[in-house]
Amino acid sequence: MKVLKLSDLDLKGKRVFIRADLNVPQDEHGNITEDTRIRASVPGIKLALEKGAAVMVTSHLGRPTEGALTPEDSLAPIAHRLAELLGCKVPLIDNWVDGGFDVSPGQVVLLENCRGNKGEKKDSDELAQKMAKLCDIYVNDAFGTAHRAEATTHGMAKYAPVACAGPLLAAELEALTRALENPKRPLVAIVAGSKVSTKLTILKSLAEKVDQLIVGGGIANTFMVADDLPIGESLAELDLVEEARNIMDLMDKRGAAVPIPEDVVVANELSAQARANRVAASDIAPDDMILDIGPKTAARLVNILAHAGTIVWNGPLGVFEFDQFGGGTKMVAAAIAHSPAFTIAGGGDTLAAIAKYHIENQVDYISTGGGAFLEFLEGKKLPAVAVLEQRFAG
Ligand code: 3PG
Repeated sequence: MKVLKLSDLDLKGKRVFIRADLNVPQDEHGNITEDTRIRASVPGIKLALEKGAAVMVTSHLGRPTEGALTPEDSLAPIAHRLAELLGCKVPLIDNWVDGGFDVSPGQVVLLENCRGNKGEKKDSDELAQKMAKLCDIYVNDAFGTAHRAEATTHGMAKYAPVACAGPLLAAELEALTRALENPKRPLVAIVAGSKVSTKLTILKSLAEKVDQLIVGGGIANTFMVADDLPIGESLAELDLVEEARNIMDLMDKRGAAVPIPEDVVVANELSAQARANRVAASDIAPDDMILDIGPKTAARLVNILAHAGTIVWNGPLGVFEFDQFGGGTKMVAAAIAHSPAFTIAGGGDTLAAIAKYHIENQVDYISTGGGAFLEFLEGKKLPAVAVLEQRFAG
């Protein structure tokens, strides 16, 4: 990756615009429930402040309607958390596209939800040009949104006088490149989640690269059907069974494998009170719902992970939010934590599982990306990175 980096620039007295990804989960009262992305954005902001820049930061939050921000779309809770983390005031600025607000060197302001601006999603040149006029240096530090070509993630990088990558974006790209370009083998990927359809391209592309492709959640159910196992009432996408079979065949031909669960944890309902039963994969009853892998399957996966050279983890193995269905994810998390492999994890649910099982400090790299993490693993060029590379190449 050849891009200009924030750390290489003289920022004294400069107006620096940082596009961060502060899109964090909130509860129904707007309280932030997980702040990894905010904490990960702090070093870039601090660096700019310490180098004497006047710093403007913006982010999207959710997917609001352009031109019609509601109070729920506001970055106010994020401004508050950012101020705590930075130890300074972080005023929140509304209607900022045309300027007219004050920010002095050594100060930082947060510009309200950039997806409120008309033209943001469509990467409008007119909007991007206006916003680019606000700064001397544009910084993209939003790895989580690097797969979106929007006015603040892509357009501005074309028009700002200088465009560079912030430290988070640079670190993410370096860690992911290391995991995929020349990985220490065996390379094991865990791709879990409710639907094959949302992760089909990543499954296909990983099937050509990895030595073991561990599938989990609803995705594993579809693979179980492809392996002629009963799944009862479990979530699955029957129209994608053929695709699952193709992936298994492809892996097989390469001498690689997709380990299929040999036992599972089932229940008749999905609730905190649901009674969990362990059954062999061949004994799943017509009214059973698979909500976790069983202990034998987990032990087999633990063994695979213990011998891996590189592990890429995206998605929990079961409904770990309820403890009776969290055993598989917990065992896999512990195996990743203790593995000598280079370990890398990403995705919102994965971050939640990492937090729940307290392995934050035992994963080599935790990505702030969800969709961006997956698209990078698929080998796609991320538009926000591509435009910085183009600027660098001149
Ligand atoms: C994410 O949460 O993955 C990023 O913030 C991107 O959000 P988006 O899917 O709404 O573009």
